[in-house]
Amino acid sequence: MPGTVFRSSIAGLVAAFIAAAHAVLAALLAAVLAAISALPALAQTAAPTSSGSAPQAVLALAADKARGRVAFDDCAGCHRRDASGRTTGPIPRLSGQHASVIVKQVLDIRSGQRINPAMRPHVEEVALGAQALADIASYLQSLPMAGRLGQGPGNQLARGQALFEKDCVACHGARGEGRAEGAIPMVAAQHYPYLLRELGLIRDGGRGNSNPAMAALLKPYGEADLQAVADHLSRLPPPGH
Ligand code: HEC
Ligand code: HEC
Repeated sequence: MPGTVFRSSIAGLVAAFIAAAHAVLAALLAAVLAAISALPALAQTAAPTSSGSAPQAVLALAADKARGRVAFDDCAGCHRRDASGRTTGPIPRLSGQHASVIVKQVLDIRSGQRINPAMRPHVEEVALGAQALADIASYLQSLPMAGRLGQGPGNQLARGQALFEKDCVACHGARGEGRAEGAIPMVAAQHYPYLLRELGLIRDGGRGNSNPAMAALLKPYGEADLQAVADHLSRLPPPGH
């Protein structure tokens, strides 16, 4: 019957139209979602960063470790004289850290991009000139690292190691040694409470200078994952030990 054919072709057209509309809507939705999820990454790349010329200029200065030792007096009250940090609180070990990391982090803290109100007055330009910063960074990089610092509970080490090997070694290195170029921090043998705090901040967008690719990798991590990976890092032997 022509009528049936007509009706069924109308039905076919309607179905095709609905399918097409769905596809268009789905594509639109996907585009909107992609744009939204790209926003934090864009904001982070677009944010003013001190990773340009300023750290380079500081690192290019001829540094003097002996002067750095003296200048570090102003930091030792919190970070300790041997720069081993504190096992129980949020104060990191700085001994053995790459000079490029020290300089970048101090400049990010000075600019407020990394939030640290307690330390900031100590690293304002009036308190810490470029030469003193270069000296301190070179001094800290040369310091021997204490072997064992603040460690985690030790109950998730296999999981922590697996996560680290899957998601982190590409940048931080198999032994957590980091890299001077690119100012990638050494994370081996850092204090557990500090690592756990930083990982939470990086995951949740609270550490303003985080590497965006790392922040994206950490997004799906639950609390137990953060604890496991922080514990694993806290137990990695310091490079050279
Ligand atoms: C009032 C205590 C205090 C003083 C003084 C202080 N710091 Fe800090 N520093 C901290 C805390 C707390 C953190 C970690 C903050 C966080 O969780 O982001 C930190 C972090 C850092 C970091 C980042 C380390 C990393 O692995 O990312 C560097 C580098 C640093 N401090 C260097 C210095 C230097 C150099 C001085 C002296 C000029 C100094 N600090 C003085 C408390 C202090
Ligand atoms: C794409 C390279 C990259 C990857 C992958 C990466 N990181 Fe990072 N990580 C960095 C960089 C760069 C910094 C320094 C960030 C900054 O200040 O700009 C950093 C900082 C850190 C810090 C802070 C160290 C300190 O001294 O304050 C921790 C902890 C850390 N990463 C752990 C991890 C863990 C755990 C993973 C895997 C889940 C990971 N990272 C994956 C590049 C990376």
